[in-house]
Parts: sequence; C-alpha cells; structure tokens
Amino acid sequence: MNSSPVLSLQNVVAGYGPTTVLDGLSFDVHAGERLAMIGRNGVGKTTALRAVMGLVPLRSGSLHFKGQDIAALLPHQRAERGLGYVPQTRDIFPSLTVEENLLAGLKRRPRSALDEAYALFPRLAERRRNGGTQLSGGEQQMLSVARALLGRPTLLLLDEPLEGLAPLIRQELLRAFAHMAQQTGIATIIVEQQVDEALRYAQRAVVLDHGTVVHEAGAAELLEDEATLERWVGMAVH
Ligand SMILES: Nc1ncnc2c1ncn2[C@@H]1O[C@H](COP(=O)(O)OP(=O)(O)OP(=O)(O)O)[C@@H](O)[C@H]1O
Ligand SMILES: [Mg+2]
Repeated sequence: MNSSPVLSLQNVVAGYGPTTVLDGLSFDVHAGERLAMIGRNGVGKTTALRAVMGLVPLRSGSLHFKGQDIAALLPHQRAERGLGYVPQTRDIFPSLTVEENLLAGLKRRPRSALDEAYALFPRLAERRRNGGTQLSGGEQQMLSVARALLGRPTLLLLDEPLEGLAPLIRQELLRAFAHMAQQTGIATIIVEQQVDEALRYAQRAVVLDHGTVVHEAGAAELLEDEATLERWVGMAVH
C-alpha cells in the first residue's frame, strides 16, 4: 500500500496494574483496509482495541490516527475523529428500542441516515420498535455494529462480532460487514476466534502473541499456512 496508514501503533506498551499486556505492539491499518487480528485467548487482542480507543492508557509507544498523535485524547474525542468500536461485551442500551439505540449512534447526522442501517440489516427494520432485551444475540450484535456504523467511522474495531452465533447467521453477518466495508470505504479491524472466518473476511492479518505481533501476512496466504496457524493459534483451519 502506498498511502499513509489511517492507524499506526508503534511499540505500544500497556496493561493493567502490575501486568504488562501489550509489550511492544506495532502495526498499521490503511484506508478502507480489512485487517484480521488473531491469536490465542489472552494474548492482548481486546486490550489492543481498547488501547486504540483510549480505554487503556499507553505506558509507552505511539499511537497515530490519520497522521495525528491521539494518545492523549479521551475515548469520546477519538470517536469524534472517526474511530468506531464494537466491544466484545455488547454495549446496546437494553431499556431502549432498536430505533432509539440507533438514534444514539447518529451523532450530528440526520435521522434519515437510519435508512442506511436498515438497508444493511433488514432484520433491524422489522424490529425497530422492539426493546433491546427482546432481541436475539445475533440481532443485538447487528444493532451494536449498525449503531457504530451510523457514526460514519473511518476505522471500525470489531471485537468478536460473531461470538455465540449460529453458523448461518455468522455467514450472513460477515457478508454484511464485507459489503458495508466495500460500499462505505470504512476500514475494519476484526478480532475473531474462528480464524478461518476472519481470514476469509480480511485482506491482511496480524497474529499476536504475548502482546506483540509475531506474524503478518496476506489473509489468503495465511489461510493456507497451516504451520504458522498451528504454531500461533494452535489450530488447523480448513
Ligand atoms: N481489566 C483487566 N484487569 C486486569 N487484567 C486484565 C483485564 N482485562 C484483561 N486482562 C488480562 O490481560 C490479558 C489480555 O487480555 P485480553 O482481553 O486483551 O485478551 P484477548 O486476546 O482479547 O483474549 P480473548 O481471546 O480471550 O478475548 C489477559 O491475561 C487478561 O487476563
Ligand atoms: Mg478478547
């Protein structure tokens, strides 16, 4: 890629209390790129996304978004600049309806922008007056992603957006994500336990271990690289 990256982490060190989780983490994401971040449980994938959002402070290293140093910005300031986040624990408002949840994601955009979300996830349109608690797990995930998208992020961070969903719904959602990414030019980082699905969605992948990038490759290439997957993820994909 010849363009400068939209997101760049260099030698990021971060953790919780006495524990260092991110230990010299460096990687870039380019405009419109779909990047998979994979690795075993506990290697620091969620912490990496949280550090990008400002929910975990950097102890050292640098973090640039659209060429600017964002390490000192608060999470909401990062969101305003174009970072979207769908956390591993979904953050929809259960007491609000689908439509009210979506309105909360609009920021300064007109209400008519809701049609984008309904076009992408027709199921949400059918359930627009339902409360958050009446939604299935998959619908809650769609709602969480749709709300993040309505803010028109430059880069959307998706932490296990398919977790706990039935295979058919997983495929449906991945297709919707890929379609959305292509249509809108929004870059995405996807973290997913089902490595094969993440690699089929993504164009490029970074593999994490102990809070650092141990391997980087084209997604299609890594999908065929059983030795690397076996070593760092501990599973063969098929
Ligand atoms: N709030 C926290 N306080 C203390 N330690 C934490 C906290 N959150 C995570 N950790 C620890 O940091 C390490 C990395 O956790 P993280 O959630 O980033 O891993 P992950 O790669 O996302 O794992 P998974 O695949 O299971 O979601 C783990 O050892 C975890 O126990
Ligand atoms: Mg995680």
